[in-house]
This record gives sequence, structure tokens and C-alpha cells, in this order.
Amino acid sequence: MHPQQVAEVSPQLRALLQLADPHWDLISIYLFRSDLLLLEQNGIPVACLVLQDLGDREYEIKNIAVRADLQGNGLGSRLLREAIRRATAAGARTLLIRTGNSSIGQLYLYQKTGFRIRQIDTDFFIRNYPEPIWENGIRCRDRITLTMDL
Ligand code: ACO
Ligand code: ACO
Repeated sequence: MHPQQVAEVSPQLRALLQLADPHWDLISIYLFRSDLLLLEQNGIPVACLVLQDLGDREYEIKNIAVRADLQGNGLGSRLLREAIRRATAAGARTLLIRTGNSSIGQLYLYQKTGFRIRQIDTDFFIRNYPEPIWENGIRCRDRITLTMDL
């Protein structure tokens, strides 16, 4: 995305992106270096995926989100498959995605899609986030990196 497009992101798209990552200042930095995949319903974005070229034939899915009332209908899986297709077509060697230890459903979905756990950054979320994050009754502490060889 061009910086101008980032500045003009609609409130609906912004809310969607913030489902996956509450920090708009961080999102706006990676957005303008990335491709945005969007699924729309009546012209309104309902699901999105941000794909960044990290260089050295490595791509990262920085953000994936589906509007809460539409989750569980296969839209996230569709976006993941499209990201894999695009990264492959662009000549990528590795596709990477990161999440927290407490994101059980996401870890399930990413592994089911073909990603494998490669690295654990212990206490990443404690060091980098001011407020404690809780999910599925578990404290989010560790950042898990999953990768897929393309
Ligand atoms: N908990 C349990 N299971 C889940 C979850 C969850 N949170 N999310 C997906 N699944 C399962 C589904 O049950 C389904 O299982 P099945 O194939 O056995 O039926 C499978 O994963 C695929 O589900 P989809 O319907 O394709 O996924 P969905 O459209 O709901 O999108 C997503 C998944 C993007 C994680 C969505 O739930 C969402 O937007 N969550 C909130 C934002 C978020 O956490 N984003 C990821 C942050 S990490 C990052 O952005 C890199
Ligand atoms: N999937 C999802 N949630 C589970 C699972 C599971 N397989 N097992 C337990 N839970 C959850 C329960 O829902 C419960 O959640 P809650 O506190 O939010 O309500 C919580 O974990 C505690 O459940 P318990 O009822 O205390 O666990 P249970 O008596 O079922 O014992 C065990 C868990 C030992 C894993 C049992 O399911 C089992 O024997 N599974 C088959 C054998 C197995 O996999 N053993 C572990 C192999 S690894 C090892 O041995 C070191």
C-alpha cells in the first residue's frame, strides 16, 4: 500500500486490522510496506490479510482477521490459501506467521494449513506489551513463529 492509502484506511478496515493487532501505530508502519488481501461484502471489508515481503525470498503474514460475526465460515482459510498462492507466485521460499501461546484456535488453523512451529520467543508479550493479555484462560506470554516452506 502507498502511504496515502494507509492514511485513508476506512474505519471498517481499521477495526478489522485491529482485531488481530490492537496497536494501530505498528499496523500503519507495516501496512505501507505490504500487500493487502481483502474480502468484501456489499463493498464493506469483512476479512483481510496483510502480506509483507521481508526480502531474501521470505514473506510474512503480518495480520489476518475476519469480522467477528463471520468467523468460522472458512474466510480465514481462504485468505491463508490465497497468501500462500501469492507468495509462491512471487518466488518466495518461506512464508512465516506469528502468534501468541494463548491463541489456541489460531495455532490449530495455521498448523492445519501447513505451517510448522519453528521458534518460540519466551516472554515476548510480557516484554513488549504494557497490559497483560489473556486468552482462553491463559496468559499470553510467548511469541510463536510458524513457517511454511514453499
Ligand atoms: N478458536 C478455535 N478454532 C478456530 C479459531 C479460534 N479462534 N479460529 C479458527 N478456528 C478453526 C475453525 O473452527 C476451523 O476449523 P475446521 O476447519 O476444523 O472447521 C478452522 O480453524 C478454519 O477456520 P476459518 O473459518 O477458516 O477461520 P476464520 O474465518 O474464523 O478466520 C481468524 C480465522 C482469522 C483467526 C479469525 O478467527 C479472526 O479474525 N480472529 C480474530 C483476529 C485474530 O486472532 N487474528 C490472528 C492474529 S495473528 C496474526 O494476525 C498473524
Ligand atoms: N482437548 C481440549 N481440552 C482439553 C483436553 C483436550 N484433549 N484435555 C483436557 N482439556 C481441558 C478440559 O476441557 C478442561 O478445561 P476447563 O478447565 O477450561 O474446563 C481442562 O483441560 C482440564 O481438564 P480435566 O477434565 O482435568 O482433564 P482430563 O481429566 O480430561 O485429563 C488428559 C486430561 C490427561 C490429557 C486426558 O484427556 C487424557 O487422558 N487424554 C488422553 C491421553 C493423553 O493425551 N495424555 C497426555 C499425553 S502427554 C503426557 O502424558 C506427558
